[in-house]
Amino acid sequence: MRLTLTELTKSFAGHRVLDAITCDFGELRSLALIGPSGGGKSTLLRIIAGLETPDAGAATLDGEAVAFTDEEKLRAHRRRLGVVFQAFNLFPHLTALANLTLPLEKVHGLSPAAAEETARAALRRFQLADHAHKKPAQLSGGQQQRVAIARAIAIQPRLLIFDEPTSALDPEMTAEVLDVIAELKSEGRDLLLVTHEMGFARQVADRVAFLAGGRIVEHAPAAELFAAPRSPECQAFLARILKY
Ligand SMILES: Nc1ncnc2c1ncn2[C@@H]1O[C@H](COP(=O)(O)OP(=O)(O)OP(=O)(O)O)[C@@H](O)[C@H]1O
Ligand SMILES: [Mg+2]
Repeated sequence: MRLTLTELTKSFAGHRVLDAITCDFGELRSLALIGPSGGGKSTLLRIIAGLETPDAGAATLDGEAVAFTDEEKLRAHRRRLGVVFQAFNLFPHLTALANLTLPLEKVHGLSPAAAEETARAALRRFQLADHAHKKPAQLSGGQQQRVAIARAIAIQPRLLIFDEPTSALDPEMTAEVLDVIAELKSEGRDLLLVTHEMGFARQVADRVAFLAGGRIVEHAPAAELFAAPRSPECQAFLARILKY
């Protein structure tokens, strides 16, 4: 993928969350966003995903600007992305299977039979075949997150977007979900992720961007950024979180 941001600006209640971000990340397969809480990472992901409208500026994916003001084009953009948030973003009243078939039928226009076949294949892929009939409350956190990933994958997205997919999970389930994401990366899927798992970011991301105070303070190949962050802000951030 190629992601470029131009003068991207977003404020909430007078507070500038994204401050005229201009950045060309170049051609890459996977980009990790790191940075302090409240720095604007989720807001930036939501804008790129077409779920939030910026006040000004542009986001371009593979040469195509996200059409924030054209609802039809925006829906088409969203349909081509697989998005996985923290946790608990499954429909609680639906089974795992129905969580997958619902968007396949309603958003992607598959017939019920085709949706079920696609959904069951995606659940099998993540060892969830035996859990298809369960509702989210009957699944572990790791299983729930794998269902969410299966749902994102089922639509054959051009890009998978993860926003702290493991932050609500215990260490074992975190490892389980990170394994799945690493596997998707090795399959050649394009990934855009926000994570607090620095070891994982280093391993899975081609490039890492440090976002703080509404700006991309620096971005570099993962190994480079973690070994030798250039900005004092990123140095301080990494020193703080890598301490334990
Ligand atoms: N819908 C909203 N309405 C008002 N303020 C918001 C909204 N969404 C985000 N904000 C504010 O924007 C700022 C950036 O939020 P954002 O969620 O993008 O940060 P983040 O970098 O993802 O943080 P974290 O690491 O804690 O998830 C925060 O101060 C937040 O309170
Ligand atoms: Mg966030």
